[in-house]
Amino acid sequence: MPVQIRPATADDRDDIRAVHLGAFPESEAHLVAKLAADLLSETSEPETISWVAECDGEVVGHMAVSPLTADIDRAWRGYILAPLGVVPAHQARGIGTKLVQNGIDVLSQRSIHALFVYGDPRYYGAFGFSAASAIGFLPPYELEQPIGWQARMLRPFVASERTFRLSCVAPLRDPAYW
Ligand SMILES: CC(C)(COP(=O)(O)OP(=O)(O)OC[C@H]1O[C@@H](n2cnc3c(N)ncnc32)[C@H](O)[C@@H]1OP(=O)(O)O)[C@@H](O)C(=O)NCCC(=O)NCCS
Repeated sequence: MPVQIRPATADDRDDIRAVHLGAFPESEAHLVAKLAADLLSETSEPETISWVAECDGEVVGHMAVSPLTADIDRAWRGYILAPLGVVPAHQARGIGTKLVQNGIDVLSQRSIHALFVYGDPRYYGAFGFSAASAIGFLPPYELEQPIGWQARMLRPFVASERTFRLSCVAPLRDPAYW
C-alpha cells in the first residue's frame, strides 16, 4: 500500500498520540506522545511543522520539526527534529526514511541553516546527520546521552562566534526530553 506524507492538522491529534504510544517503549511513550500533541498546538514563528504518514487512510507515522534560535546570532536559522515515530506493524518499510527526507527537503527550501536531532546516530547518520556538525551548538539543556546530539547542515553559515547556546520552543523546554 503506498504511503503518503501530508502536513498534520489538529484533527490528527489522537492518531499522532497513538503512533507514539505504540512506537516508543512504555517508559518514554507518554512523554513523547505529550510532546507530539503539544507541538501540534505550538504557534512559533518560524512555524513548528508536523507531518503524518498515511497508509490506506490510516495514520501510521508522525514527525515534527520546531525552530531553534541561537543566542548571539539572529541571522542563524535552525530547527530540531522531534519526535519521529512509526507504528511497529509498519516499521522497516521506509516510512521513517520518507518522513525524515521530506522534512529535510521542506526545510532546505526555507533558508534554514541546520536541522538538529537528539537520537540514535546509527539511524540518523544515513541522512547526513553527524555529531561533528553539531559541535559549537550547545543544546538548551544538559544531555543525558551527548552522543545523540547531531546536526545536518542545510546551507552554509559563516559564524560570528564559535559557540552558540540554542533555545527551543516551549513544549521542548523540559529537561526530561534531553
Ligand atoms: C526509528 C523509526 C522511526 C524508523 O522508522 P522506520 O519506518 O522503521 O524506518 P525505515 O524503514 O525508514 O528504516 C530505515 C533504516 O533504518 C534502520 N533502522 C530502523 N530503526 C533503527 C534504529 N533504531 N537504529 C538503527 N537503525 C534503524 C532500518 O533497519 C532501515 O535500514 P535499511 O534501510 O538498511 O534496511 C521507527 O523504528 C520507530 O518509530 N522506532 C521507535 C521510536 C524511535 O526510536 N524513534 C526515533 C527516536 S530518535
